[in-house]
Amino acid sequence: MLLLKSVEELQIVLQKKRQKGLKIGFAPTMGALHQGHASLIKKAKLENDICVCCIFVNPTQFNDSKDLDKYPRTEGKDIKILVGLDNDVLFYPTVDAVYPKDLHIPIFDFGQVDKVMEGKFRPGHFDGVVEVVYRLIDIVQPDRLYMGQKDFQQFTLIQHMLQQMQSSTKLVVCPIIREVDGLALSSRNVRLTPENRQNAPIISEILHGLNDWLTNGGSIKEAEAKAITQLNEMPDFRPEYLEIVDGYTLQPIEQMEDSDYVVVCTAVWAGGVRLIDNVILKGGQQK
Ligand code: PAJ
Repeated sequence: MLLLKSVEELQIVLQKKRQKGLKIGFAPTMGALHQGHASLIKKAKLENDICVCCIFVNPTQFNDSKDLDKYPRTEGKDIKILVGLDNDVLFYPTVDAVYPKDLHIPIFDFGQVDKVMEGKFRPGHFDGVVEVVYRLIDIVQPDRLYMGQKDFQQFTLIQHMLQQMQSSTKLVVCPIIREVDGLALSSRNVRLTPENRQNAPIISEILHGLNDWLTNGGSIKEAEAKAITQLNEMPDFRPEYLEIVDGYTLQPIEQMEDSDYVVVCTAVWAGGVRLIDNVILKGGQQK
């Protein structure tokens, strides 16, 4: 695996590949790699000639500086995982390389898509995500970009961004990888206390449970209220939001018939750790 820190070096390498007609798949990450990240790399390897993974803990998307300080950094382990996956190129840039002084990022209009859920509770977060993904795509110019369904609102925004850019890069969304007990894999899970880790699978259980309730004719408002109550009943758990929304616009819906693509998204504090999860309740590609 080629490990590159310089933008210029990476671009020279990738330009040569492109000239040979090779297709490039790209999986941006913030490191502390787990099987969720690995699933993106595996799919990118299958569907392209070259897989580029980026590890960059992007400071501009952390609205809470304590979260940035606490973000796990496991470089040696990450490199071993990537070598094991036969990843071709690891781009490991510095903050200055990603954000040179003369950098210009266009302004995108996402309407209400970036105002709800994560956008509401983590002000500024998506500005940072869009900024870094725009910059990384501009550097790598991949044929395909691999992102996880785990961050539903994130990939939705990036899809909107690619459309507005009229980009030739195709977004490929990969299903959520979960622990055997259902907890969605996340770099933050290692910070859960043993008790909260034991209770955390309740989140996906509740989300999946909504399927039964809604297919049996239960109302959306009641479903949301019921799920929030169940989460609040867990010791040390505090739901920030739980919303059943249209999967394209991320706006609330009143009944299942209002949309052909419905997803339930939640963010829950388990002690001092913020967990997000989602389950597609209707339509869409991913389960
Ligand atoms: P990070 O949290 O490291 O995630 C990198 C990618 O892995 C994202 O596309 C995310 O959705 C995906 N991913 C994380 N956990 C997953 C799981 N359990 N199953 C499937 N995919 C999973 O998301 C970011 O980094 C950053 O915001 C980034 C896009 C890199 C921009 O800085």
